[in-house]
Amino acid sequence: MANPRFIFAIPCLLALLICHGVSGRRTAPLSESGSPSSVPAPISRRNMLANSFGLTPPMGWNSWNHFACDVDEKIIKAAADALVSTGLAKLGYRYVNIDDCWAEINRDDKGNLVPKNSTFPSGIKALAEYVHSKNLKLGIYSSAGYLTCSKTMPGSLGYEEQDAKTFANWGIDYLKYDNCNHDGSKPTVRFPVMTRALMKAGRRIFYSLCEWGDMHPALWGYTVGNSWRTTNDIADTWDSMISRADQNEVYAEYARPGGWNDPDMLEVGNGGMTNDEYVIHFSLWAISKAPLIIGCDVRNATKETLRILTNREVIAVNQDSHGVQAKKVRMEGDIEIWAGPLSGYRVAVVLLNRGPIRYPITAEWDDIGIPLKSTLVVRDLWEHKTLRTRFDGNFTAMVNPHACKMYIFKPVG
Ligand code: GLA
Repeated sequence: MANPRFIFAIPCLLALLICHGVSGRRTAPLSESGSPSSVPAPISRRNMLANSFGLTPPMGWNSWNHFACDVDEKIIKAAADALVSTGLAKLGYRYVNIDDCWAEINRDDKGNLVPKNSTFPSGIKALAEYVHSKNLKLGIYSSAGYLTCSKTMPGSLGYEEQDAKTFANWGIDYLKYDNCNHDGSKPTVRFPVMTRALMKAGRRIFYSLCEWGDMHPALWGYTVGNSWRTTNDIADTWDSMISRADQNEVYAEYARPGGWNDPDMLEVGNGGMTNDEYVIHFSLWAISKAPLIIGCDVRNATKETLRILTNREVIAVNQDSHGVQAKKVRMEGDIEIWAGPLSGYRVAVVLLNRGPIRYPITAEWDDIGIPLKSTLVVRDLWEHKTLRTRFDGNFTAMVNPHACKMYIFKPVG
C-alpha cells in the first residue's frame, strides 16, 4: 500500500523544486565556494523516503564496470559465489546487482519485460532464488526512458507500475534506475513515478537514482530514492576517479541515513590504477559515505584487491551509525585533508597527496573539528595500528605521491 506520508511528500517536493528554480541539464549555478547557489538548507531527516532502507550506505557488487553488456546468469551466480567464498559477503557486501542488457529488446504480448533468453535462460526469479539462498540480495537495472542506455532493452517509462510489480514478483531487492532515452521531461518528474510504483509493488526495494547529477539530485533525492548519482560514469583511471570524488564532495551536507550521494561504483581491482590509487579510491568512497558497490571481477580478485576491499576498519567508517559525509577541510596545492565525524566523538581523517612528490601533511585539531586542547589517540586504518604517541594540537604524517593515509582520531583528554 502507498505510504500516506510519501504521497504527501511528492507535491511538496515538486513545489520545492519549482520555488528554487532547478531546471534543465546542468544549469543550477555553483557559487565560488563550489556549492550550488540556489541550494535550500538541508532538509530534516524526517522527510526521508519512507521505505526505511539505506540507514547506512549500501554495499555489494554490480556487473557494469567490468562486464558491461557481456553479462549472463553464470557470471551473476559466480559473482554471488565469490562474494561468499572471499568473505566479502560477511563484511556486508550483500547486493548482487545486474546492470544493463539483461532483457530482450521487446516486451511480451502483455507488456512484461522478458529476460534475455540467450543470456538469462533460467529467468530472473530463479536467479533471485539462487542469490537469496546464499543469504545475498539481487539488484536489477532499468531506465526512466523508452530504452535503457545500451539501447538493447526496454526502459520502464510508461510501464513503471507493471515493471515494479514484475521486479517485486521476481524477488528483486535493489533497483538502479537510469536516465537514458526518455521523453524530454525532467528526472524530477520521471523518477518519482517509479518511487510510487515501488511503494505499491508489495516488496521493499532499495531505489538507486542514476540521473548522473544533472539536476542536483542531492537537493531532492531524499524523498525519491535511497541514493542518487552525483556524477557522470566513472572510468578506471586516476583522473576519472579523483574528479568524481571532488564533484561528490560538494554535496556532503545532503547525505544522511536513508539517502546517500553516489559518486558511482568502485573500480578497485579493474587494473587501470596503481594499488595506492585504489587505496585512495576506497578510502575516499568510505569516508564520503558512498555506496560501496564493487565493480571488478570478484571471481578473480587478486590478494591486493581483496586486501583493499576487505579492510574492516575502513568499511566501519563507511557504515558508521552517524552517517555524516566527510568534507575537504583543508586544501593546499596537491595536499588535501578530508575529515568527518563518527559516532563516539571520533573523527575519520584522510591525508591525501594528489601530487608527484612525497610530502608531510599536518592535520590541525581546528581543521578537523576537535577542541583545541584535546589529546588524541590515533589509529592508522591501513596499517591496522594504534600509534604509541598521543597527540596534542596537530598530527603530521609523510604521505607518498598519489597515496593517502587514513586514520580515526579519538580524544582521550
Ligand atoms: C549509464 C549508467 C552506467 C551504466 C550504463 C549502462 O551510463 O550511468 O552506470 O548503468 O548506463 O548502460
